[in-house]
Amino acid sequence: MRTRPLKVALLGCGVVGSEVARILTTNADDLAARVGAPIELAGVAVRRPGRARGQVPAELVTTDATALVKRGDIDVVVEVIGGIEPARSLLTTAFEHGASVVSANKALLAEDGAALHAAAQKHGADLYYEAAVAGAIPLLRPLRESLAGDEVNRVLGIVNGTTNFILDRMDSAGSGYSEALDEATALGYAEADPTADVEGFDAAAKAAILASIAFHTRVRLDDVHREGITEVTAADIVSARRMGRTVKLLAICERAADGRSVTARVHPAMIPLSHPLASVREAYNAVFVESEAAGQLMFYGQGAGGSPTASAVLGDLVAACRNKLNGAVGPGESAYARLAVSPMGRAVTRYHISLDVADKPGVLAQVATVFAEHGVSIDTVRQQGKDGEASLVVVTHRAHDAALSATVETLRRLDTVRGVASIMRVEGE
Ligand SMILES: NC(=O)c1ccc[n+]([C@@H]2O[C@H](COP(=O)([O-])OP(=O)(O)OC[C@H]3O[C@@H](n4cnc5c(N)ncnc54)[C@H](OP(=O)(O)O)[C@@H]3O)[C@@H](O)[C@H]2O)c1
Repeated sequence: MRTRPLKVALLGCGVVGSEVARILTTNADDLAARVGAPIELAGVAVRRPGRARGQVPAELVTTDATALVKRGDIDVVVEVIGGIEPARSLLTTAFEHGASVVSANKALLAEDGAALHAAAQKHGADLYYEAAVAGAIPLLRPLRESLAGDEVNRVLGIVNGTTNFILDRMDSAGSGYSEALDEATALGYAEADPTADVEGFDAAAKAAILASIAFHTRVRLDDVHREGITEVTAADIVSARRMGRTVKLLAICERAADGRSVTARVHPAMIPLSHPLASVREAYNAVFVESEAAGQLMFYGQGAGGSPTASAVLGDLVAACRNKLNGAVGPGESAYARLAVSPMGRAVTRYHISLDVADKPGVLAQVATVFAEHGVSIDTVRQQGKDGEASLVVVTHRAHDAALSATVETLRRLDTVRGVASIMRVEGE
C-alpha cells in the first residue's frame, strides 16, 4: 500500500459533512485498504468556526473555503455545502487546481451539470454526485455503469422523502395535508420552509439529473414539468383508495415510443396498490427503472439523513481516490444521444378527473361528448348524486397531456359543470 496519503478537503460540516468526517475517521484503516492508500482529511471549510465539529480537529477547520481548494496538494474536494454559490465557484476552482470533486448538491448539478462536467474533463478530474439523487440509494452508478450496455426507457421514482411521508400519513392515518405537514416538521422530515420539497423543486432537480444520465441527453431543470403536493386533498386520497390506488409524488423520465424524444416531469399521481412503489412508506425513496434488456429494476432505501447520504458520498470518494492513485478518470458526462426534450403537453398518461356537476339527465352524456371531441377516451365513470348536485369521477385511457388540458378547459365552460374538483394523473398501470 502507498504510504503517502490522498488528501481530502471537506467543504461543509453540517448534517452530511459531519457524518462524512466521522466515517472517514472511524473507518480509516478499512478505507485505506480498499483504496490502496490512506485518506487524510486535510481541511474542513465551514461558515461558523466556533461550533463543535465532533471528531474533526480544530486546526483543520477554516472559514476560507477558497484558500482550501486552492492549496494545490488536495486530491479530492468533497462539497456538502449546498446551494448554487459559492459551491459552483469552489468546484470550478478545485478542478483548476487538479482536484477531483464529490458533491451531494442536486440543485447545482441540475442547474449547471454540463459546465461542471466540462471543467472536470478539461482538467482530467472526476466529478461524482451519487448522493445528489435519493441519498444512500446506489442509482446514478447503476444507470451510468451497470446499464451502460442497455437502453433505459423509463425511470419512475419516489425521490423526495418529505412528500412521501406527508402523502403516506394522509393515506394511512387519514390526515389532511396541513396536519401531515405539521407532523413531518415535528419529526424533522420537513424543513422550516418546506417549499423546495412540497412544491416539487427538489424532486425536479433529481429528475433532471436522472433523465440526463438515463437517456445520454442533457436535461435541464427548466425542462422538467413540476407540480407539488400542496393541492392534494384528503378527498383525492379517499377516491384513490376506493379504486385500489394510492397517491405518490413521482419523478417520471420517459423515452417517447418512437425513441426520438424524452419527457421529464414531477407531479402527484395515483398508482395501483399492487405497484412496487405503492408500498414505499414514510420518508423512504424508491426508483423503478425499465430498460430494454434488463426489464424492470427497483432501487429502494433511505433518500436522506446524514449517515445514509454520507454512505453515498464515501462510495464516490473511494472511487475518486482509486482513480487518482491509478492515474485514471472515471466516466464523464455522456450526452451524445442529444434527444429532444418534449414539453409536458407531449407526455402520455391516464387521468383521474373529479367534477362537480348538476344532477340532472343528460349531464353525463354532455361530459362524455367533450372528452370524445378532444380524442380522450374514457375508461370508467363513477357518479354520486345528492340534492341536485353530483360528483362525477372520470378515469381516462392514455392520452396526451395537451388533449386532457383542452378537455378540462371545455368542461369548465359547460353550464352543467359547477367546478373541476381535482385532476390527477394515473401511472403504473
Ligand atoms: N441532509 C440530507 O439528508 C441530504 C441528503 C441528500 C443530499 N443532501 C445535500 O447535501 C448538501 C449538504 O446538506 P446538509 O443537510 O449537510 O446541509 P447543512 O446541514 O446545512 O450543512 C451545510 C454546511 O455547509 C457549511 N457552509 C455553508 N455555507 C458555507 C460557506 N459559504 N463556506 C463554507 N461552508 C459553508 C455550513 O457551515 P456551518 O456548519 O458553519 O453553518 C454547514 O457546515 C446539500 O447540497 C444537500 O442538498 C443532503
